[in-house]
Amino acid sequence: MVVIIHPERKTFTNFNTMKTHHLAKENSVLLHYLQQIRDIHIQKDSMRFRRNLERIGEVLSYELSKTLDFHPAQVTTPLGEKETRLVQDDIVICSVLRAGLPMHTGVLNYFDWAENSFISAYRYHTSDTEFEIIVEYLASPSLDNKTLILVDPMIASGHSMLATFQALNKVGLPRVIHLVSAIAAPEGIAYLEKHFPKETQLWVGDIDDHLNDHSYIVPGLGDAGDLSFGTKLQQ
Ligand code: URA
Repeated sequence: MVVIIHPERKTFTNFNTMKTHHLAKENSVLLHYLQQIRDIHIQKDSMRFRRNLERIGEVLSYELSKTLDFHPAQVTTPLGEKETRLVQDDIVICSVLRAGLPMHTGVLNYFDWAENSFISAYRYHTSDTEFEIIVEYLASPSLDNKTLILVDPMIASGHSMLATFQALNKVGLPRVIHLVSAIAAPEGIAYLEKHFPKETQLWVGDIDDHLNDHSYIVPGLGDAGDLSFGTKLQQ
């Protein structure tokens, strides 16, 4: 697959490889939200779990926003005029159902004018340890020349993120791609680095140790979809 990044972008980054922003390396309140989604007792409160994923989406969006393009603008207050700058990018937020929904809300809270795209991608287990990623449903605006923010709370193998991106091919070619995730495994990041365009930026809360035989992140937090919305029947 060939993905062309629009050459007219003013802040065109030109990295040698995908750039990863690992936010837990710095002290911030984000560490509290990450601790709470991992904690075996606190995470059982699904309303708090969803809200924490939302808060993580908000923090990552704030950081990501600093790398967007801005244009000059003016605002009229009751007392006068003020020069300012506003985001120029046409943003599309895309999430994978169902685990992506709480973080999607967090990203949309910050980029409230963004367009939205939803896709279903799930693991179909062919054996105890092997699975395929099945992509079925896609509801999306055109991505042509837009800034795509692809949200997945857990980047495990990276396969579902890539399958999602490939499925999005049919709805246009984004100018810029940002990946947003709460927790990622090193294996998943290495896979994404290999397959995403080098100008892609990854915004991740924390990076964990490894994947287990069932492709769950260790220590991770368990199943983000089940913790958000309850357990489901296996297909
Ligand atoms: N999805 C999850 O919800 N958890 C993992 O550890 C990996 C993928």
